[in-house]
Amino acid sequence: MNQNEGVGKTTTTINLGHALALAGKRVTVLDMDPQGHVAIAYGLDKKQAGLDHVLLDDRAIGDVAIMARENLEVVLAGEYLADYENVLEGGASRGYKLRLAIENSALKERDFVLIDCSSASGLLGINALFAADEVMMPISSNYLSLQGLSKMMRIFKRAEALSGRSIKLWLVSTRMNLHRRLAHEVRRRVLTCFPGRVLKTVIRENYALAEALGFGKTIFDYKQASTGAEDYQALAQDLLLGRIA
Ligand SMILES: Nc1ncnc2c1ncn2[C@@H]1O[C@H](COP(=O)(O)OP(=O)(O)O)[C@@H](O)[C@H]1O
Ligand SMILES: [Mg+2]
Repeated sequence: MNQNEGVGKTTTTINLGHALALAGKRVTVLDMDPQGHVAIAYGLDKKQAGLDHVLLDDRAIGDVAIMARENLEVVLAGEYLADYENVLEGGASRGYKLRLAIENSALKERDFVLIDCSSASGLLGINALFAADEVMMPISSNYLSLQGLSKMMRIFKRAEALSGRSIKLWLVSTRMNLHRRLAHEVRRRVLTCFPGRVLKTVIRENYALAEALGFGKTIFDYKQASTGAEDYQALAQDLLLGRIA
């Protein structure tokens, strides 16, 4: 999750999901962004039913889950997910719909459930926060990311207060150009502000990551020998081994 657009949320979700699946973990990716980019990234038909039917029509998650790769299950956004932002009936319970759907599914038995969020901070984002045990925020290497981060932290703290639970926060540096001084400066600041919360691996800017998306492939389908594949594999290991910067 991150309120800034284009920081690598979807790229991280789909590639980290595939990296964990390739490491033998059982993974489910949920697309909570109405743009439906997860479908495109995995080469799936965006028009298939998904979380839209789960949230709007009380369909079971298991009914709309699709196997995208070995060990990797996906629940797409679906065509109507944006409509959930306008649901008025249900009061405060509207924020817990995803959490309930997950509790009533087999997802508890998965090793990892990754939720890709949109850049908006509406009801869909709240549903994701109330459902999650941990939040990963990709931080790209420019000054606007630091601004976005403080806005994001307010939303995050509010969700913790409203739900009465603490949510573990992880930050990950994305789209890093190692030759830019600014990129290192942004990472240094993030490390200073969030000691112990920044994952060790830095995701470098790698054009193959952007190309893969256009072919409906993850970086592991598209180009094993790339810094993108190397970095997302390392990020998966950070999660498995608890490696921080
Ligand atoms: N590490 C990276 N190197 C190169 N391009 C990247 C990288 N991460 C993301 N991109 C590209 O940047 C664009 C935005 O990334 P995306 O993951 O869709 O961001 P978000 O989901 O946060 O809006 C996409 O075209 C994607 O392919
Ligand atoms: Mg996205």
